[in-house]
Amino acid sequence: MKHHVLAAALAALGFAASASGAEQVVAIRAGKLVDVVAGKVLADQTIIVSGQRISAVGPSASTAVPPGARLIDLSASTVLPGLIDAHVHLTGDPRLHGYQSLGVSDIRAALYGAHAARVTLEAGFTTVRNVGAGGYGDIALRDAINEGELDGPRMRVAGYALGIQGGHCDNNLLPADFHYTEAGVADGPWQARAKVRQMAKYGADTIKICASGGVLSKGDEAGAQQYTLEEMKAIVEEAHKLGRRVAAHAHGASAIRDAILAGVDSVEHASLIDDEGIRLAREKGTFLVMDIYNDDYILQEGAAAGMLPESLEKERMVGQVQRDNFRKAFQAGAKMAFGTDAGVYPHGDNARQFHYMVKYGMTPMQAIQAATIRGAELLDWKDRVGSVTAGKYADLVAVSGDPLADPAELTRVKFVMKGGAVVKQAQ
Ligand code: ARG
Repeated sequence: MKHHVLAAALAALGFAASASGAEQVVAIRAGKLVDVVAGKVLADQTIIVSGQRISAVGPSASTAVPPGARLIDLSASTVLPGLIDAHVHLTGDPRLHGYQSLGVSDIRAALYGAHAARVTLEAGFTTVRNVGAGGYGDIALRDAINEGELDGPRMRVAGYALGIQGGHCDNNLLPADFHYTEAGVADGPWQARAKVRQMAKYGADTIKICASGGVLSKGDEAGAQQYTLEEMKAIVEEAHKLGRRVAAHAHGASAIRDAILAGVDSVEHASLIDDEGIRLAREKGTFLVMDIYNDDYILQEGAAAGMLPESLEKERMVGQVQRDNFRKAFQAGAKMAFGTDAGVYPHGDNARQFHYMVKYGMTPMQAIQAATIRGAELLDWKDRVGSVTAGKYADLVAVSGDPLADPAELTRVKFVMKGGAVVKQAQ
């Protein structure tokens, strides 16, 4: 199937697939190439792709193009590594929030996820970390994509998000009569450990937890802590023992502090982070993944999509503070990876967040690094994605304009390659 995708892509480009099944070699001429490792833009580079991987990259003048290589001419474009979004929910439909979400089965959500996966890939996001899905839908998606049955990004997946009873990762929409509890609910250190083991058993490679309340959940406070330090220590110890990283949803300052002290690998949202939280994040090298585009969609479209009035109220309390704290934490030296919470807002609009990352303190290069090499570091995939480097997967995007002058250019990706296969090539 993989071959089929590659062959179809090459056929679309006017190349005949090799009958022998030998590795295709492709030579890509890049007018400009963003070197995210050095933080520089290089002119006139050639990237040699053999099969799924990059085999060489260097100045066009000195990079040998193997005989018979297929040529892709991006000499009028800027080429970047495929983008990485470290916080998405591919099975989440942004049109169905609040009570409107109750009519969606896990299987229906997974099918929607197949659509969202393609849209996300075509937007230039060749790798994502999916931090929570019902029915293990994200795990099924990852596997179907890896088998070549669906087009979509490479995925890190969490299965169900873990949380306390009645908390952000439970579902509090229905009254007691319905006896509904979200499958990720686990109270106390041992229940929580067991839940980590259950997620790992069914294929999660990441563990997502809810350390604090949230915006879109009913009946909790975004700033209030939910998991205790004791519970989070148990979760992190268990997850790390099993070789899984932990991502903690946390808006409130005490939840952020305790999550970092417990040893989580990333704090999601981090809206109300205080000075101590910033200091701890720096000291422990904990990533912050702050979804600072989200606020626009929630306040503009949320009500029509079914978000509860209390959620809009909560958003008004955290939205701007989060943006200001993004600047503060970044300037203080906290590590940051790009993550957007796509699924709350429409899939494919992920790159809209670059504008805000630059508005709130990053240079365009730093924002691009957050969405490439930093994301790869957080996902523990530096050996395979995050930069245009020999040995890594040939995951590439290209834009016509200059993303270093205007990061909004990344919302107009016109070429996408994943693992050596051309996914999108707009004229
Ligand atoms: N999923 C998150 C929550 O419900 C969304 C928060 C969005 N707001 C923001 N300002 N980032 O808590």
